[in-house]
Amino acid sequence: MLWAAVLVVAALSDAQAQLTAQTSIAPELRECYIDPMLVNRNNLPPMTISILIDIIRKIEDNPNVNMDLRQLSALLLHTYRQDGVEFHRPETTLVSSSMVLPFAPTFHSFHRHRLLLTRLIPSNLQVLANNTVNSILKCTLHHMLSTTVDARLRGDESSCNQLSQYRALRSGRSPRSISDDVEIIDKSVLKSTGKNGQMNHFNPNDDVEFTSYDGVKSARQLLGDSQCPLLGGAVFSQWGAISAGHLIAGVAAGAQPQQVPVLELAKGSVLNYNNVQQTVTSLFPATLSGDLAEAVLIQGTDRGSSAISIGTAGNWNSTQPPRHYMLHSRTNVEMTDPEIRGDIDGFVLGSAVPSALGTFSTMRLSQYLDMFYSARNGVFNPVLRACNRRDLIQQYITSTNLASETFAFAAALDTNMPLRGTIIGGLEQLVNSAVNNFQSYTSNNLNDMSCVTTEAVSVDFRLRTNLYIVLDSMWEYNAVYPAISYLVDAIEVGKYGSSITVLNAFNGNAVVNTTFSPAEFHSNYTLAAHQNMLTGVNLLTTLTNIRVMMQARLGDESLVNYVGGNSTVVLFLLNSGPVQNNEQVFEQARLLNETVPDLRLIFATSTNQFDNLWNLVRDMHNDIRQVALSPGGINVEIAMSGIVERIQSGEV
Ligand SMILES: *[C@@H]1O[C@H](CO)[C@@H](O)[C@H](O)[C@H]1NC(C)=O
Ligand SMILES: *[C@@H]1O[C@H](CO)[C@@H](O)[C@H](O)[C@H]1NC(C)=O
Ligand SMILES: *[C@@H]1O[C@H](CO)[C@@H](O)[C@H](O)[C@H]1NC(C)=O
Ligand SMILES: *[C@@H]1O[C@H](CO)[C@@H](O)[C@H](O)[C@H]1NC(C)=O
Ligand SMILES: *[C@@H]1O[C@H](CO)[C@@H](O)[C@H](O)[C@H]1NC(C)=O
Ligand SMILES: *[C@@H]1O[C@H](CO)[C@@H](O)[C@H](O)[C@H]1NC(C)=O
Repeated sequence: MLWAAVLVVAALSDAQAQLTAQTSIAPELRECYIDPMLVNRNNLPPMTISILIDIIRKIEDNPNVNMDLRQLSALLLHTYRQDGVEFHRPETTLVSSSMVLPFAPTFHSFHRHRLLLTRLIPSNLQVLANNTVNSILKCTLHHMLSTTVDARLRGDESSCNQLSQYRALRSGRSPRSISDDVEIIDKSVLKSTGKNGQMNHFNPNDDVEFTSYDGVKSARQLLGDSQCPLLGGAVFSQWGAISAGHLIAGVAAGAQPQQVPVLELAKGSVLNYNNVQQTVTSLFPATLSGDLAEAVLIQGTDRGSSAISIGTAGNWNSTQPPRHYMLHSRTNVEMTDPEIRGDIDGFVLGSAVPSALGTFSTMRLSQYLDMFYSARNGVFNPVLRACNRRDLIQQYITSTNLASETFAFAAALDTNMPLRGTIIGGLEQLVNSAVNNFQSYTSNNLNDMSCVTTEAVSVDFRLRTNLYIVLDSMWEYNAVYPAISYLVDAIEVGKYGSSITVLNAFNGNAVVNTTFSPAEFHSNYTLAAHQNMLTGVNLLTTLTNIRVMMQARLGDESLVNYVGGNSTVVLFLLNSGPVQNNEQVFEQARLLNETVPDLRLIFATSTNQFDNLWNLVRDMHNDIRQVALSPGGINVEIAMSGIVERIQSGEV
């Protein structure tokens, strides 16, 4: 193939080829499980589709990475995806952590993943170089792309279902009809299990470390410990959580369509079924058939079911920022809701990629995803939008194809995946049950926001605001970070959207420099960065320094995008009060207003400071607001929506 010949090797390294398909954690991903800074997910950008697109853009913009959509989508999988990584409690604390990393890809999703990388989506044994993105973004991508279930008991299970109400409120969708119920956990059982030796619980307070050895052998993580296990590899979108690995796999498989002989997938084994089709189309096992086959094989053997259950609901435990996706059930987790969506979106985008490339041959992967996950335009056509998923299923997926492809892939996967039983007949019936249940589940239970609602709740222009947040370190990080994170999403910080800068209210120095990258904002505005901020609010110093900084930027042609032109908003987020305001402060505000055209000051304060601040703003009745921010981002959308309106009001 032509593209293979022009492959630029500078950014590639084949020394690490396909280590993500091996049965131990790939060397370059190990630091994600070792380095305490990287292990703590709170230090990684949130799991959202816009962050995923942002990181992909950074890779595309890397001068050493010179590849097209086809190559990049495959290499992202080969470099960063490793499905099925699970924690394994070591049998003894004597095992030094420098010798053993208590994680390995042992969850069932690994087997399909391995076939995908080695047989279905080849990459000429290449991966992206280790330094293509920094460690924070590398680990973020790894967790976004890699499907796994972490069933360790955490201790917060009683609040598993807590946020469903906010989700419903936000997206205006109708309530779910099934499987929203979470078993109530009995705290006394949790407390005693550590001692009775039967359940060999991992200490819920320790995320990674292990504390005690109680002599019970456990070959494998004890599945089912948590009533609401965490699903890895899910990313937030307005149209439901999506398993990003499945999405990218669909694009990669569709961009490089292949018919793969089933015998090739079952290499070295005798296929148990002779009435299956001879080949599979890689797009199917990369997406829908992959998960359907897992459900068939696991539910068929583990539970001896003749009806295969498809779909497991879940929710993010906080909407701002979304980092942990909790499933509402611990059984039948082979084809969860995010996987269903990732599979459908991946299948649709994979099917549509040849014609999209025909329209726009140099289309980048980031552009393709950005168009699909947009409120209005879609991929060159409003039909091809995530909000239209239900209709797209009808348009792109035919049951008979899906059933025969799934049957063939299930037969192949059966020879690759260790199961707790041997299927000796009836595989085809199980496959048909899975396909039927997939169809009824997607039409009855996947109630994601429709296009009509999407258009009603979104603005019809792309925001381009330079937002400067002047931050008072007296806020609790836990309360103010979700609020800023909400603003970053709302104003669409991004390469073609708005920018964000976080300044210290003590002196106007940068906490996070101006950036158009939401991933960079989240990487830098961490708890540690917040705690390092100087304490106190000084309007005079702050306004003076902001003016000097903006003046310098205006003088620098290359930075013209950073200030001026489009709207510039300086938002003070203050938790201390009352702050000092006087003639000199007013004079600085006036000068700033003169320096930067269209600049607006907005004050959001935890106490009423109207009398104190009214003379500094343009519209005193709207630009001074009181906000109540709660830890964990609870109700942040309600608290901040007025501020977002003020920011947007400068746009039109
Ligand atoms: C990849 O890069 C990280 C960070 O620079 C480094 O710690 C790690 O050792 C590298 N991994 C390999 C396998 O070279
Ligand atoms: C912001 O940028 C300036 C110069 O561009 C640099 O001196 C400063 O260290 C940066 N601050 C942060 C927090 O990155
Ligand atoms: C984020 O932090 C890194 C490392 O400290 C620094 O190089 C970079 O300039 C910072 N980015 C922003 C936008 O502040
Ligand atoms: C302002 O926004 C428009 C699009 O709305 C863009 O074309 C232009 O480059 C922006 N100007 C500046 C100075 O940011
Ligand atoms: C800022 O300048 C505009 C005119 O450019 C004026 O209408 C507004 O009142 C000024 N605001 C303040 C706070 O000085
Ligand atoms: C969400 O759950 C994770 C995992 O239990 C926990 O670390 C995190 O603090 C929770 N976040 C919120 C906002 O409750």
